[in-house]
Amino acid sequence: MTVNASGRSVMERCDILGGYSEEPDCLTRPFASQSMRQANEAVAAWMQAAGMTVQQDKVGNLIGRYEASQAGAKTLLLGSHLDSVRDAGKYDGPLGVMVALACVERLHARRERLPFAIEVLAFADEEGLRYHSDYIGSKVATGTFDPEALHLTDAEGISMAEAIRAFGGDPDPEALQTARWHRDELLAYCEVHIEQGPVLEARNLPVGVVSAIAGQNRISMRFVGEAGHAGTVPMSLRRDALCAAAEFVLAVEAIAHSLPGLVATVGQVSVQPGASNVIPGQVTLSVDVRHQDDAVREQACRQLEERTREIGVARHVSFNWQILQGHRAMSCAPHLVGLLAQAIEEMGYPLLSLPSGAGHDAVTLSELTDVAMLFVRCRGGVSHNPAESVTMEDVEIAIQVLERFLLLLR
Ligand code: GLV
Ligand code: MN
Ligand code: MN
Repeated sequence: MTVNASGRSVMERCDILGGYSEEPDCLTRPFASQSMRQANEAVAAWMQAAGMTVQQDKVGNLIGRYEASQAGAKTLLLGSHLDSVRDAGKYDGPLGVMVALACVERLHARRERLPFAIEVLAFADEEGLRYHSDYIGSKVATGTFDPEALHLTDAEGISMAEAIRAFGGDPDPEALQTARWHRDELLAYCEVHIEQGPVLEARNLPVGVVSAIAGQNRISMRFVGEAGHAGTVPMSLRRDALCAAAEFVLAVEAIAHSLPGLVATVGQVSVQPGASNVIPGQVTLSVDVRHQDDAVREQACRQLEERTREIGVARHVSFNWQILQGHRAMSCAPHLVGLLAQAIEEMGYPLLSLPSGAGHDAVTLSELTDVAMLFVRCRGGVSHNPAESVTMEDVEIAIQVLERFLLLLR
């Protein structure tokens, strides 16, 4: 099998997966949805054809296993996620699963086994679109899932537990808190992902090695004021939750500007009751805060909460500040970074090592084993957007680098 055929197949498969969506005109594939079922079925068939035994675990992660050349060998984990954000691109997540699958497919075509088993993991939720609590898939796989999350409800009021059951999984909290692997059985986890930033493109490089992943908090913020008649309540007597939220959004931006390297985003706003002639009584916002340095991120969160308190007092609205999730910044394992670097340099490309501002399943996997990541250039650094784009040539290089990494690892 030529590398061109593998690259073409990865591109075609990303196109096919891009068609599995909950919305007719764009790609939206949330956790435990019908479109996720279609994606899992397609990927399971490709895994089987590549000589892997396939299973869907208790939360809906798809796992393809390619056995080692010898019994009792350790397992190398490869993969990424198959869920998406709303109106997504085709490559954030699926590219990593498809490149991993292509490497196994190439081993299988050569009838080659390695001294370690490979499991290709297609995680069921990384983005957190449905429950705003991300990494559900990798947290369950690593036994770090907090069963409290089972009570979260989606926009239709369906709890996570119900969604898992309807998808054919098992929402038993104990089952979900049991890791699939024991630390000693694992060799490492390596994830290929689009860069989601402009650095590789600016340096004219097809791939780069990730050094570290920024720490992150996701917060749900609610201002509660008082709904009332838009025509009769005087301005001085209003407790408008949306005006408080507007001040808050600008405060998030200002605090992010004041702390170098900090990025903070309000990506969702829900206004209640949400009518043109009613003063907003309640507003719920999402806040996403990230930094490479955990101390700076924690400081930013404290400053934001304090600013929220000030806005609430000044506007006579109450607020509720709920940290939905947080993870520390994470460093990739130096020996694995070194092997990816060697693979890239052997292919004649200059080495660039870069940090990731985006979160990845590798963050969760680092609780259990050493992790590494390979970034692939994407056009304009665009992601979380249907304009996400990679070239087949870069994908071919990513396949070759990962393949070489496998051989160096043995
Ligand atoms: C995942 O893409 C994230 O970084 O939010
Ligand atoms: Mn993403
Ligand atoms: Mn991703």
